[in-house]
Amino acid sequence: MSFLTKKADALLGWVDARFPLTSNVKAHLTEYYAPKNFNFWYFFGSLALLVLVLQIVTGIFLTMHYKPEAAMAFASVEYIMRDVPWGWLIRYMHSTGASLFFVVIYLHMFRGLLYGSYRNPRELIWLFGVGIFLALMGEAFFGYLLPWGQMSYWGAQVITSLFGTVPFIGPDIAEWLRGDYLTSDATLNRFFAFHVIALPLVIIGLVAAHIIALHEVGSNNPDGVEIKKVKDKTTGIPLDGIPFHPYYSVKDLVGVVVFLIVFAAIIFFAPEMGGYFLEANNFVPADPLVTPAHIAPTWYFTPYYSILR
Ligand code: HEM
Repeated sequence: MSFLTKKADALLGWVDARFPLTSNVKAHLTEYYAPKNFNFWYFFGSLALLVLVLQIVTGIFLTMHYKPEAAMAFASVEYIMRDVPWGWLIRYMHSTGASLFFVVIYLHMFRGLLYGSYRNPRELIWLFGVGIFLALMGEAFFGYLLPWGQMSYWGAQVITSLFGTVPFIGPDIAEWLRGDYLTSDATLNRFFAFHVIALPLVIIGLVAAHIIALHEVGSNNPDGVEIKKVKDKTTGIPLDGIPFHPYYSVKDLVGVVVFLIVFAAIIFFAPEMGGYFLEANNFVPADPLVTPAHIAPTWYFTPYYSILR
């Protein structure tokens, strides 16, 4: 054993005596036993984690240059795109990441429906997932107001006005939500607070609960084999399971590489995605006196928009 390995081992031993680091890494990562028959549908959970981290990291850098103020918000985004070194990349990573988050999540949810992963004993994994999905929709909605373009402004105006239709107290609720008689600087400030801190905290907490619940009951799989039912009597290891590392760490890496190729291709060649990821009307600064001819949400909200209509 080299000098450095000895020192690293001693340090790990010191930490382990005070904090269950190795045991948790083993239980939740390297030696988390999973079924042998995962197919490509099982890529999307780890990809959702990857996109979450990317959104948080790029979001932190955007926040360093963005100004949450009605008079400056639009210009500060243009400043990020044109003057901040690599700002365009960070912004396109964040805007593309938002859309791809929904692509990944919709596929992840479809897999759950396909294989009945919402059923006993995985009801709570699913319910935490539903909570994540609702929080994610809120996160995307609040984030969309921040560039303060025409579509940002009028989208927020439409959704907050919905609350105005509640009998008797509706107009008061809408005014309370906006913090003003119409979408304004006060609305932008509170949406910024929700987007950069409140909802990310909720999402991170729910994702932790989601994974803890998953590791309590174990993963489902395309054939529905419950690997936890047959365990080795002495070690307690599921006989039909394989450790996450190296089997699924390597397999997930393939998914990550494919995902990053698609992600980079969109960012470098089609960041607006023909208006689906960034809408033309959002390159026009918000104007409370000019309502756009068509107010349409981003693609991932279109099913709900149809219901609304
Ligand atoms: C930020 C969002 C999310 C993250 C990071 C996340 C992460 C994960 C991970 C890492 C797994 C294990 C790997 C896999 O099975 O793919 C998983 C499993 C699962 N997730 Fe999610 N998830 C998210 C959102 C959701 C949503 C919105 C739902 C459903 C409404 C959901 C339902 C499930 C179910 C049912 C499983 C167990 C699947 C099985 O074992 O067959 N998740 N999730």
